[in-house]
Amino acid sequence: MKKIERNTRRPLSAVEQSRSLTPLIENAVGEYHPAIRRQLAWLKQTFAMVIQIHDHEYPDLVPAYLLFLHMSDDLEKHMVKEESVIFPYLVRAERHAGQGADPSTLKGRGGDDPLQIILWEHEATQQDWAELKKLTSGFVRPKGACGYMEALYWGLQRLERVLNEHLESEVNDLYRQVFEKGWL
Ligand SMILES: [Fe+2]
Ligand SMILES: [Fe+2]
Repeated sequence: MKKIERNTRRPLSAVEQSRSLTPLIENAVGEYHPAIRRQLAWLKQTFAMVIQIHDHEYPDLVPAYLLFLHMSDDLEKHMVKEESVIFPYLVRAERHAGQGADPSTLKGRGGDDPLQIILWEHEATQQDWAELKKLTSGFVRPKGACGYMEALYWGLQRLERVLNEHLESEVNDLYRQVFEKGWL
């Protein structure tokens, strides 16, 4: 997975400033999150089958499976948090901004910095993914691997592409705007 960092080299252009966050949020909730959930569920099943067949032949397979389960769990919690707390807040913030109100007044009073936590969770996923990739030789299946293993490695590569796209879009479109506008 590529390392995704927020692009802070230039301030938002006027076009970016006026762009609505709602389509980005709808795209995350309607397209990316369901695709990620479907792929995680399929990979969990496929990984479990591969473990049953091959755990003695490939010593890194069980640690890779455990790491995958851990990452998958964290990702699910992260998406639920975005869908149930962060995104509804941002839709409200945008509506208030449209009415001339200051959206920063909607921020929580606690000491937490929700945006930093969200970005930190993205980084944690990327770190786990890098480790998973190491344990699976860059998702290159071993010679003579069975069809399940081939499917598993193909599925991991597919999830990597979707996660790259999704995190890039959240970090550099959605959350970058939120940060620049001071909404979180
Ligand atoms: Fe997301
Ligand atoms: Fe996210």
